[in-house]
Amino acid sequence: MKKTKIGIVGCGMISETYFNASKKFTNIEVVACSDIIPERSKAKFEAHGVPNMTNDELFAIPEIEIVLNLTPPQVHSKIAMDTLNAGKHAYSEKPFGVDADDAAKVVALAQKKGLRVGCAPDTFLGGGQQTARKMIDDGWIGKPLCGTAIVMGRGPEKWGQAPFFYDYGAGPMLDLGPYYMTALVNMLGPAKSVTAVTTKGFDYRTFGAEVAEQYQAQYKPYDKYPVNVTTHLTGVVEFVSGAVITVIASFDVYKHGHAPIEIYGTEGSLQVPDPNTFGGPVRLFRPGYEDWKDVPLAFGYTENSRSIGAADMANALQSGRPHRASGALANHVLEIMLSFDKSSKLGAKVELTTSCERPAPLPLGLEEGQLPE
Ligand SMILES: NC(=O)c1ccc[n+]([C@@H]2O[C@H](COP(=O)([O-])OP(=O)(O)OC[C@H]3O[C@@H](n4cnc5c(N)ncnc54)[C@H](O)[C@@H]3O)[C@@H](O)[C@H]2O)c1
Repeated sequence: MKKTKIGIVGCGMISETYFNASKKFTNIEVVACSDIIPERSKAKFEAHGVPNMTNDELFAIPEIEIVLNLTPPQVHSKIAMDTLNAGKHAYSEKPFGVDADDAAKVVALAQKKGLRVGCAPDTFLGGGQQTARKMIDDGWIGKPLCGTAIVMGRGPEKWGQAPFFYDYGAGPMLDLGPYYMTALVNMLGPAKSVTAVTTKGFDYRTFGAEVAEQYQAQYKPYDKYPVNVTTHLTGVVEFVSGAVITVIASFDVYKHGHAPIEIYGTEGSLQVPDPNTFGGPVRLFRPGYEDWKDVPLAFGYTENSRSIGAADMANALQSGRPHRASGALANHVLEIMLSFDKSSKLGAKVELTTSCERPAPLPLGLEEGQLPE
């Protein structure tokens, strides 16, 4: 198969992972990069030898087939529209967007132009999540009935860009929810409703000097930074299959003892690894076991392999098959996530309007760097 040429728009924090991880896949080649802050793309040229330029110059390169959009969530839809209007396939970091209408426009434009849209997270293609899905598909827990998906912490106060996480387009659901909701749809299929209550435990957050030091140009330490999003979202996602999953996403919790995801079926229970990673552990319990048993991971890609979704899309483009980290999946996941606040405001169950195909599982026995044609 030929190498598909890729351009990266947005050379911030996560881009380094992409510049490095994409070298694993011989079917893709990053040939250009851009950033609204030119020094950032210049630094990537210096580190990786990938020519830096403006967005428009990148969009004008005829050989580039896929644009990898690594900008902040609030501009994901705009960059995706620019990409499609330039006649290129669009692959974005998560979330797919921050507004359902804008995201729907991206899907519609891609359809109209006959172009593809893809989106992270692609961690569901990692060895941990693929093994968990195979356990379910092979019937080890019988029919999945219910479960939990829980991501809680005391918030990103010590991460760079911390204030951003308390503003529109972020919060624990839009930031971390994509990993959890995508993992659930990968295992259980599409969802049909969300019933939720969402709150915020703190009106203000305090950011210390470490954030200011890291991002001096952008942010100052805040004694009181207002919390502009809900930071504790709790609810139930009902799947078309009938499974009901209790979900909590929170930046308000100091410590907890829950597994990231557990699925309970008619024949047993499954512990699913952190979907923000590529590895394990996967654990199974069935009647007659004394305790959980570790399940050996049956698939590769157990280390950080971000960009595997874009590499899969590149092969899919050539062979004409569907790609796994699809726009339809990401758009459905976005609607699930946005429905938490919507349900809470309405005080009612939200019936979902989007759906998607369950992405095809990866085949067993793939070598590292190899993907299905
Ligand atoms: N940082 C992480 O650990 C991480 C992990 C997984 C996913 N992500 C996702 O990746 C995306 C980027 O996150 P990040 O942490 O790298 O953010 P970042 O702010 O460090 O980088 C984003 C970059 O995009 C640039 N940019 C903004 N608008 C632009 C435009 N119109 N055209 C070109 N460039 C533009 C910014 O100048 C910046 O350099 C987000 O959607 C985030 O959710 C981040």
